[in-house]
Amino acid sequence: MPLLLLLGSGELGKEVVISAKRLGCRVVACDSYAGAPAMQVADGFEVLNMLDGDALERAVRRHAAAAKREGRAFYVVPEVEAIRTERLVKLERAGVSVVPSARATDLTMNRDAIRRLAAEELRLPTARHGYAESAAELRERVMGKKGTGVPCVVKPVMSSSGKGQSVVRKEAEIDAAWAYAVGNMRGDTRRVIVEEFVDFDYEITLLTVRQRAVVGGRKLKEKERTLFVRPIGHRQERGDYMESWMPCAMKPGLVKKAQKMAAAVTREIAGETGAGLFGVEFFVRGKEVIFSELSPRPHDTGMVTMISQDLSEFDLHVRAVLGLPIAQINYVKGGAASAVILAGAEGAGEPSYTGIGEALALEDVQVRVFGKPSTRKYRRMGVALATAATAKKARKLAVRAAGLVRVEARV
Ligand SMILES: Nc1ncnc2c1ncn2[C@@H]1O[C@H](COP(=O)(O)OP(=O)(O)OP(=O)(O)O)[C@@H](O)[C@H]1O
Ligand SMILES: [Mg+2]
Repeated sequence: MPLLLLLGSGELGKEVVISAKRLGCRVVACDSYAGAPAMQVADGFEVLNMLDGDALERAVRRHAAAAKREGRAFYVVPEVEAIRTERLVKLERAGVSVVPSARATDLTMNRDAIRRLAAEELRLPTARHGYAESAAELRERVMGKKGTGVPCVVKPVMSSSGKGQSVVRKEAEIDAAWAYAVGNMRGDTRRVIVEEFVDFDYEITLLTVRQRAVVGGRKLKEKERTLFVRPIGHRQERGDYMESWMPCAMKPGLVKKAQKMAAAVTREIAGETGAGLFGVEFFVRGKEVIFSELSPRPHDTGMVTMISQDLSEFDLHVRAVLGLPIAQINYVKGGAASAVILAGAEGAGEPSYTGIGEALALEDVQVRVFGKPSTRKYRRMGVALATAATAKKARKLAVRAAGLVRVEARV
């Protein structure tokens, strides 16, 4: 059976491991700290700094050689953005399979690369934007003749989960936005993207599966290679996801527009041989569907798929990677929702939880605790999942259940 080397061992990785183990794979989970969620369910683990190219390459080569000796197919499965992705490009050239493709992980590591591809090469509609490498340049990109104007959103080109991101509402706030972005970026590139603030009606994630050319022994037609999950609505705070739900009220014509864009961008970055699931993010404003960004891997808002359907985003990802058929996705009747359970305070020790029983006493509710070994304020520690007659009712129920679970930090 195949060996998966998972790069990143958070809650999404943990579910990928569970899905892969259910299909008999062997999984080794990597991250920068021991006891990470995915490590708790994997066959083995490695603690390493995945931004250290040499350490990354050594680990990949060692496991690739082991897989070869044991006659297993081998896949590198990145689950976070913070990876020395140039090394994955090099390793892929040397014959290692990277999911969905080394180019996809490399292009999405920085916001500017994927934005350039989407906006300039594929001509997808995006928010007006510019880049800056100093506070003065940022001012020009905002207030200049071709600037975004205010309000606008400033983000480090290298960051995720809203880190370093802020909204500038007036000119006087530009310097503070620069300082905040630079102080909270990942890596050492002092570069930000500034985007026009899109006053959207709602935002969605369109989970898009890119399949291999041959699946279950059958050669797929080009059109058959891309599959979509129904759009997921979500709400963010501080640039981080709070709740997500399905179905999301979106006119079929707008769904088609989003699907067309998602198919184009995922096909481009997966290449001919790449396969896997992507989370493609869009803003919807009136009849406009605006491309925002994408993850070449399961998406946090997609955690709702653990309850909304028979094949979760994690199951879909693993099937696409292994080249196994996805005959159909069956959805629950009515609505489904997820709501996050966050830590309230910092704590270096293993936290404890209260209220799980109260939450589970509610009908049609499930709780997932990620098992993170320590807390930070706002760190995502678990998620509540719910189904109900409508998405609106499911949201209410999931939020209520999440609110019942309290994370007690331990110093
Ligand atoms: N130009 C914009 N106009 C309005 N809102 C925005 C804009 N850019 C980002 N946001 C809001 O901030 C959220 C997070 O932004 P974005 O997805 O770009 O960052 P992120 O750090 O990659 O987040 P994540 O890793 O959680 O997906 C968006 O989902 C949206 O709610
Ligand atoms: Mg995002």
